[in-house]
Amino acid sequence: MVAEHANLHEIPYDHDGRSDALAAVYYTDQNVMKAEVHDLLYNTWQFVCHISDVDQEGTYFAFSLHGQEYFLVRGHDGTLRGFHNVCPHRGHRLVDGSGQKSRIVCPYHAWTFDLDGSLRGARGIDRRSAVQKHKLLPIRVDTVLGFVFVSANLDIAPLAEYAPGMAAQMLRACPDLPNYVVNRDGAEFGHTYMCAANWKVMLDNYLECYHCQMAHPDFNDMMAIGDSTFALFPNYTYQHAPTKMKAETAAFPLDLEHDVLVGEFWWMFPNITFGQFPGTQNFYVSRFDPLEPGLTSRYTVSLHPKEPTDPGAPERDRLRSVWTTTVVSQEDKALCENVQRGMSQRAFQNGWYVTAPEDHGVSEHAMRHFHDLYRTWADRALGPVAR
Ligand code: FES
Ligand SMILES: [Fe+2]
Repeated sequence: MVAEHANLHEIPYDHDGRSDALAAVYYTDQNVMKAEVHDLLYNTWQFVCHISDVDQEGTYFAFSLHGQEYFLVRGHDGTLRGFHNVCPHRGHRLVDGSGQKSRIVCPYHAWTFDLDGSLRGARGIDRRSAVQKHKLLPIRVDTVLGFVFVSANLDIAPLAEYAPGMAAQMLRACPDLPNYVVNRDGAEFGHTYMCAANWKVMLDNYLECYHCQMAHPDFNDMMAIGDSTFALFPNYTYQHAPTKMKAETAAFPLDLEHDVLVGEFWWMFPNITFGQFPGTQNFYVSRFDPLEPGLTSRYTVSLHPKEPTDPGAPERDRLRSVWTTTVVSQEDKALCENVQRGMSQRAFQNGWYVTAPEDHGVSEHAMRHFHDLYRTWADRALGPVAR
């Protein structure tokens, strides 16, 4: 099955039998989380918004990521740029919310910046020397199929190199994605919710479907979980999850002519997921933000076609929304919160990967891929916290 979806970048499954999962201390320790926030998340690509939020000259969008404040702004030259949202004069925040501006004027002492970040005027100081000395500190900005990402790491590889082949896979799964619009009413994926678990517990849960038969009876009725496949790539994974191709399911109804009948899900290191869920046409991206070692906020933006695909689509959309919000998300939240308690039990040192390359429906090699990448970072940034 995997070969069908493989491309040049696929990482072959490794049979060396490594089975010890990441030690529990990585899920509970305050210093581990501080390093994740200040080093790992600060230096990797983080999802911010959809390109339609910043598509006009002068449109800006202020946001915070893991305690740091930034904004995006589209310049007079049409380039989308990102900056730290802090004035070099005294540290006041430069812009709030979103809107449109022809230049950035600091609300404190009115230092004025062009949309490319250069200082245009500062009362009381010689402009030429000030312009050279002070400008807004930039961040990196990149997009994948309309999703805007930033990184404070100015040396990070562009997304096309960071996750090679991922955009092509998404386009193959959803050829009309570039024309999709943000689903501003969608409750299921268009919202932020909290989970009392470590962000990695939530992603571990996302990256395996070993639990699906036991823990998601409705989902299990809709999906052919035994036919699921997980493929590994540099900095990302891809899951192909076919439905049973039946119209009536215990989860929500599917229209076999108009709906998505194969779930396709991606995870990008470290804390980003993308997917196309079965049901009415859709595509979403999520970012998992650690607030505390045992508390995570999941922020999601979902897209859909400009017009419904058929007269029944809005009602099917509503039924899926009710189900994802009240059933499957709640099931996963309860699992993750329960596991987080387990992470602080003295009897639990680390978990165990079930890796069954001949049976992807129960295999956890995608989760192991996440941990392999995480360990590479942790060994450098943290040293041996636990073995
Ligand atoms: S803090 Fe911005 S102009 Fe003084
Ligand atoms: Fe789940």
